Amino acid sequence: MDVFRIEGPVRLAGSVNVKGSKNASLPIMACTILACGESSLGAVPNLSDISVFGQLLQNLGCHVKRNAQGQVCINSTVIDNPIGEYEIVRQMRASICILGPLLARCGRAKVSMPGGCAIGDRPVDLHLRGLQELGAKIHLENGYIVAEAPHGLIGKDIFMGGPFGSTVLGTANVMMAATLAKGRTIIESAACEPEIADLANCLNKMGAKIRGIGSPRLVIEGVSQLQPIQYEVIPDRIEAGTFMVAAAISSGELHLKNCRIEDIMAVVDKLRRIGVTVESKGEGCIVARTGTIKPADITTQPYPGFPTDLQAQFMALLSLAQGNSVIVEKVFPDRFMHVAELNRMAANLRKEGPAVIVAGVKKLIAAQVMASDLRASAALVLAGLAAEGTTTVNRVYHIDRGYERIEERLNPLGAKIRRESV
Ligand code: EPU
Repeated sequence: MDVFRIEGPVRLAGSVNVKGSKNASLPIMACTILACGESSLGAVPNLSDISVFGQLLQNLGCHVKRNAQGQVCINSTVIDNPIGEYEIVRQMRASICILGPLLARCGRAKVSMPGGCAIGDRPVDLHLRGLQELGAKIHLENGYIVAEAPHGLIGKDIFMGGPFGSTVLGTANVMMAATLAKGRTIIESAACEPEIADLANCLNKMGAKIRGIGSPRLVIEGVSQLQPIQYEVIPDRIEAGTFMVAAAISSGELHLKNCRIEDIMAVVDKLRRIGVTVESKGEGCIVARTGTIKPADITTQPYPGFPTDLQAQFMALLSLAQGNSVIVEKVFPDRFMHVAELNRMAANLRKEGPAVIVAGVKKLIAAQVMASDLRASAALVLAGLAAEGTTTVNRVYHIDRGYERIEERLNPLGAKIRRESV
């Protein structure tokens, strides 16, 4: 198992290229199931989650490879085993987003029911309800979701909001299934995340008829078939936000290339309010901090609100603010595994239900810490950049799921991160 040894404090400066979006790539890879033939996807990041998803598609019967130009080519001519095995789904919950496209393409699908994970229970009831509304018969069998629609799916008006608002992958699943349903589907309270808009744009290029992209009301006219596609996924807004915090926490200045700041305005606004400058530059932006960090109150929300996937990173940053901040988690109310670890680094954080009170401290101090999930581990790396001494982050495989060789990209900017196998 790999660990990171991070020497701090450092100041980061220079340019960094933001990779393609993991969370856009995964459903877009799934949507190739809807067409027969070879699709090729550009800007798909080279991450362990992407390889696992490729394996999932191969098990269905697809051929998946990365070509010399770095594109992921998926040949979905044959799908003869519409089953998402437990062994893969337990490694990556996003595997659930093959359910909708498999059902639409094959008339049946069997996908392991995802369990909980470090960030909460994460039910999939809204995915299943949405597919049932389209006419699927669904039951549970030995831990597997078995979905059947032998005579095809039928368009319907569906409300998809849940107790925590919209669902990203639930919207992806139902939208993908509805592209091949008979008639019109309207999804109300659809997720508006840029990754869902990217998926919808990709589906439309494949021949789907989706309107209202980027809004909470998606209107989908079913078509009889979709074509394979060549498509380039959008830049990763969460990786961009993580690099922005890296610049801010290290009192540095970074030029982020390939970054759409319009996709993270809630984050940019927060940074500006706490004393970090963010200025657009070409296809990216410059992020810099010279003064102190002011405290801020943050509430995570579905898009366009502040993303839960940057909550942990901002907690690391606000730990060093001059004053008290409050962070409320409204998407995954239990997503606070990083709190105890940041406190080991001399942060002063107190959890109160779905909120954390962050009392700013003058400095963070290096410690041994444990990564618990992808974004929590990113927060620990960021804290390590600012902390005095050598921080050891254990279970680095979590960060490798969502950030491509992060140490090789931060070290040229001034970070001192060593990967060691222990
Ligand atoms: N929810 C339900 N029922 C459902 C589905 C969701 O109650 O059927 C609840 C969830 O428990 C949660 C809220 O709705 O409280 C939102 O969950 P959502 O379904 O939107 O999450 P997701 O689609 O499973 C994606 C991202 C996550 C990101 C969330 C929220 C991917 C592969 N995953 O998950 O990304 O945190 O949306 O934005 O796109 C990450 O990249 O580290 C990550 C966890």
